[in-house]
Amino acid sequence: MVLSGNDKSNVKGVFGKIGPHCEDYGAETLERMFTVHPQTKTYFPHFDLHRGSAQIKAHGKKVAGALLEAVNHIDDIAGALSKLSDLHAQKLRVDPVNFKLLGQCFLVVVAVHHPSLLTPEVHASLDKFLCTVSTVLTDKYR
Ligand code: HEM
Repeated sequence: MVLSGNDKSNVKGVFGKIGPHCEDYGAETLERMFTVHPQTKTYFPHFDLHRGSAQIKAHGKKVAGALLEAVNHIDDIAGALSKLSDLHAQKLRVDPVNFKLLGQCFLVVVAVHHPSLLTPEVHASLDKFLCTVSTVLTDKYR
């Protein structure tokens, strides 16, 4: 998946607008994913998965931080997320289908809070970006 210059500026625009809310959106994305796709909960048996739990908030912050890191290094996402890729692909071994689910939930969270931001073109760019991040995080299975 190759991000065009236009995709990159659309993605930067989205993250620029959601800025300070990004951490909250990370937690909201996880809550949505656990509710809509309960099978994703199997990776978090050690978490309190109730709505608003401190662990979900903390984890949402980490996920949002990783997405921001990818945006800040949009020309080298693989390099920026290399350690996280080792963790997901080699240690956690999360089934790649779950990344699509998380990405879709993030898109919905952005759409709910910023309906006018998510034009079809921006939606497409954000989807491509999330697919790129997912590919990087699932690239080291062996
Ligand atoms: C851990 C990001 C997708 C399961 C993490 C961490 C980050 C992260 C930043 C913390 C790493 C650390 O503490 O060093 C992301 C991003 C994703 C993604 C950016 C996709 C865009 C997923 C998916 C699943 C998943 C789809 C499973 C449904 C986990 C688990 C942990 C983890 C189980 C360890 C949690 C813990 O014990 O603290 N992820 N992740 N991740 N992730 Fe992901």
